[in-house]
Amino acid sequence: MRKKIIAGNWKMNKTLSEGLSLASEVVNMANDEAPSDVTLVLCTPAIHLSQVSAIAKDAKTVFVGAQNISEHESGAYTGDLSADMAKSAGASFVILGHSERREYHFETNTQLAERVKLALAKGLTPIFCCGESLETREANEHVEFVNNQLKESLFDLSAEQMSQVVIAYEPIWAIGTGVTASSDQAQEMHKSIRTSLASNFGEDVAEGISILYGGSMKPANAEELLAQPDVDGGLIGGASLKSRDFIDIAKSY
Ligand code: G3H
Repeated sequence: MRKKIIAGNWKMNKTLSEGLSLASEVVNMANDEAPSDVTLVLCTPAIHLSQVSAIAKDAKTVFVGAQNISEHESGAYTGDLSADMAKSAGASFVILGHSERREYHFETNTQLAERVKLALAKGLTPIFCCGESLETREANEHVEFVNNQLKESLFDLSAEQMSQVVIAYEPIWAIGTGVTASSDQAQEMHKSIRTSLASNFGEDVAEGISILYGGSMKPANAEELLAQPDVDGGLIGGASLKSRDFIDIAKSY
């Protein structure tokens, strides 16, 4: 049975007080009305982590995640966040390889491979993001492109390590645009990712890995996307900034 995960990526939104209010609302709603078999993850800006973690302790199904970590353990890396720091602030998840990090901070598949390993070694669950641009999709190279991202960042892991990774498929053309991948497009790619995982790590490992969809998921389209057999949850940007929308997505399962 794969874990159902609805993760909110707050990105660079919310001041500390706004973020704490949002977290409290989510925790209250999660306790009152969210399904008990759906894991909710709040991926907050680093500065919110420790206080949001304290708030999330009041909910059985709400966990906290960082939005990135360095591939270095510690040292002279101004502005970066280490795995130990994220962990010590209460994070149990970390988003790695979001397309915004790849585009604006030039993060590479090789660098992400190091971060995935470090996150696992430190007890953080990586939410590894992959996904193609519109240009790549229009050239019909999306399956190969995503497969290469997985290959270069994940296929060096042991089966044991891989079984602890969560994957998020986020077509870049659907992020923050209001244009969602159709449920067929999402299912096609999720299935392809699972097939690729099966050929590298075995059927059992592939069947156990949660693959989330991200890209303009909202209450109105969540049910159809989440009904796809290989879609095991969502990585939600804009709609995670409103507690009602975030919880309604979780309730669409
Ligand atoms: O990490 C989340 C994704 O980038 C999706 O963002 O829901 O605002 O399109 P979005």
